[in-house]
Amino acid sequence: MRIGIVGGALQGMEAVLLSGKAGIETLVIDRKGDAPALSLSDYSVTADAVKDREAVRKALSDCDFVIPACEEIDALSSLEGITRELEIPFLFDMEAYGISCSKERSNEIMASAGVPLPRPWPECGFPAIVKPSSQSGSIGVSAVDDDEEMRSALKEVERLKDVPIVQEFVSGKSVSIEVIGNGETASSYAATEVVLDSNYDCKMVICEPGILNDADGSEFGKIGKDVAERIGLRALMDVEAILTNNGLRVLEIDARIPSQTPAAVEAATGVNILKELVFSAMGKSTGAVSRGGCSAYEHYVIADGAMRACGEKEFGHVRSPRIEERFMGADLAITDHGWEKDEWRVTAINSGRTPAEVLEKRKEFIRRVMDECGAGEYIDRSPRRV
Ligand SMILES: Nc1ncnc2c1ncn2[C@@H]1O[C@H](COP(=O)(O)OP(=O)(O)O)[C@@H](O)[C@H]1O
Ligand SMILES: [Mg+2]
Repeated sequence: MRIGIVGGALQGMEAVLLSGKAGIETLVIDRKGDAPALSLSDYSVTADAVKDREAVRKALSDCDFVIPACEEIDALSSLEGITRELEIPFLFDMEAYGISCSKERSNEIMASAGVPLPRPWPECGFPAIVKPSSQSGSIGVSAVDDDEEMRSALKEVERLKDVPIVQEFVSGKSVSIEVIGNGETASSYAATEVVLDSNYDCKMVICEPGILNDADGSEFGKIGKDVAERIGLRALMDVEAILTNNGLRVLEIDARIPSQTPAAVEAATGVNILKELVFSAMGKSTGAVSRGGCSAYEHYVIADGAMRACGEKEFGHVRSPRIEERFMGADLAITDHGWEKDEWRVTAINSGRTPAEVLEKRKEFIRRVMDECGAGEYIDRSPRRV
């Protein structure tokens, strides 16, 4: 079986890693010849899904499935057309994606489905969050404490030519869950905790049974299933929420393959979300059952004599990475490490039966990187306001 993955950045690396674990051959296509997933895949092609449509069509013609790992609407529609012509299953739901691209629309749908959301402005008062409806990756998101900050946050959204969503600033653990739907019914997978760096970028994902208690865990799973079924999801989406003292509050849904969280879920539970998606598109079930284990997935940059935890955006600057098992004590790594290099990056994934077992592996990995690579300092920063 071969899968065509279009987009070779963070989502592309995720899709390659999961496909490899599922025993599926990978072809990555990206218009940039230095996209990091190109060096991880079995085959690679440098081409633009819109400008080089014929070349992309030809490259995809001997794939059994195609999954986009990019979020540009022109590229997505071009791929939808190509896969329709070639009669290859497209592991993507354009309609659900359209809904999830608008926080205004998806919040409306979630509110009508009874999903707990942060309270809207003005009812919520300060502190509040101002965010553009249609951006992603925290672009234009501001926390505001007074009218003046609110005005400048709204100006920022206006500058992005977008509609503002103003809502309660909620705090607590950031959690995420994946959901796969077949157009009628949907299933939720394991919840993960997303840990942010000082720039609010995700530096670590933790998957373990204790992330949510039983009640919150089953509520989160039900939220995912309900929303997916309400929008008739025919592929994969994730739901992001914050666990507050008053329970879960959902921030957003995104109907596309996420980066990081599925790999953490696979490492902890043995359930491979990409394989689930492929099987769901074939109308089959994998029969996979979670083994209920634990994992941690984290990014580091090693430079200037220091080992620094970094967000995935910074990890994305990795050059021609490779996937390596048992890398400096870590179970699995994606890295461009080289003994002669004075700057390199690594994503380390560790699994265990208990959180303590995972912690031991993480400590051993950090110790070995620092010792063997001469990094005298360990830096791990958190956001100013959580
Ligand atoms: N209501 C909120 N309260 C607190 N933090 C929020 C809230 N909404 C968003 N955030 C923060 O901003 C980040 C980006 O917001 P999100 O709704 O996920 O949009 P996107 O990821 O599409 O930019 C979240 O991961 C979270 O850290
Ligand atoms: Mg988000």
